[in-house]
Amino acid sequence: MGPKKVLVGVTGGIAAYKAADLVSRLVKQGIQVQVIMTENAARFISPLTFEALSGRPVWLDEFSTAGGLSVPHVQLAGEADLFVIVPATANTVAKLAWGMADNLLSAVALVYNKTLLIAPAMNTNMYHHPALQENLKILKSRGVCVIEPDSGRLACGATGPGKLAPVEEIVALVQWHLFQPKKLLGKKVVVTAGGTRENIDPVRYIGNRSSGKMGFALAQAAWLRGAEVVLIAGPVGLTPPSQVAFYPVESAREMREVVLQHYDEAHIVVKAAAVADYRVVDPGTQKIKKREQDLELVLTKNPDILRELGEKKRHQVLVGFAAETEELLDNAQEKLVKKNLDLIVANDVTRQDAGFNVDTNEVTLLFPDGRQELLPLMSKEALAHRIFEVIESLPRFQRFND
Ligand code: CTP
Repeated sequence: MGPKKVLVGVTGGIAAYKAADLVSRLVKQGIQVQVIMTENAARFISPLTFEALSGRPVWLDEFSTAGGLSVPHVQLAGEADLFVIVPATANTVAKLAWGMADNLLSAVALVYNKTLLIAPAMNTNMYHHPALQENLKILKSRGVCVIEPDSGRLACGATGPGKLAPVEEIVALVQWHLFQPKKLLGKKVVVTAGGTRENIDPVRYIGNRSSGKMGFALAQAAWLRGAEVVLIAGPVGLTPPSQVAFYPVESAREMREVVLQHYDEAHIVVKAAAVADYRVVDPGTQKIKKREQDLELVLTKNPDILRELGEKKRHQVLVGFAAETEELLDNAQEKLVKKNLDLIVANDVTRQDAGFNVDTNEVTLLFPDGRQELLPLMSKEALAHRIFEVIESLPRFQRFND
């Protein structure tokens, strides 16, 4: 299977320059991008920019011979796995809704019969105009994915909706539509990520080295595979994927509360968070001042969230992580049994290229029937998909589809 092919249509609005960022990000993901611009788009940004970023000639009109296609609107439409129009002006939205084909871009759209995404961007009054809203309704009813614009200060000086949706969101939606198979469609997946913090006083806390990268990668992977995702994370410096329900928490007890709120409806729970096992019995209400004598902190046990989930387990598929510095497999096996898990992901956190705060991970998967699977070193994104592939193959998961 070759690379995915995406057709990016650029129309003539001030946000046209943002399409360059989109093209660049898609190309970096290994996607083959073909750009089509309208004549007006080429007044805002040079086709040369897109040619350099996509590494391919840009199509501007039906009668250009530069690209070497004999019937461009048919061939361009036929080759693409997905068509995304960024930005989509009110004029182009109207053409798409009413089936006009007076330039190459709208002609391609008329031939194209796979996934079409449009990201409208325009003046707020134009956006609110009933004609535009009717046209968007027509397009949505035909299955076009309309990426709603943001609100904000617009180039024309007005403030309100009409600003192109964030490029990250457009990239994520392109990825979502390209990703197959969607085995988690209709399933609710709860992921915990990052380390929790336990207060010592208002300015200090007990924390750990978890970066949250593995958990965030799991949330993104579950979403791409079709799930409705709840991501519950301790304080981490990461931006949550825009399409998941995000619950930032601090302490283990806060995390427990939010996890339990979602547990009944969850089909799968993946606990990648590094939860603090202990908290300070009596955290200071004021900053603790330095004194001559040593300071002793008395710690008490935190709830073991995963163990509680294991005890309350009904239909859920429960997946844990075991962060170990010694006796990796024995310790992980013990946790698998003690917490009543369907799968545990064991990682040796003493390694430089695996575990906390790095972009790669090498883990062993342990199953309740005693099976073990050592996976090679890979990116956390690739590992996240591998973990869900394994979950999707578990008999307990497959029961959901019976
Ligand atoms: N976990 C949890 N609540 C806790 C501690 C851990 O839900 N209070 C979860 C983690 O999210 C992880 C799994 O249990 O999925 C194992 O966590 P880990 O810290 O490796 O093990 P612990 O049970 O805390 O045991 P130990 O710290 O002694 O290794």
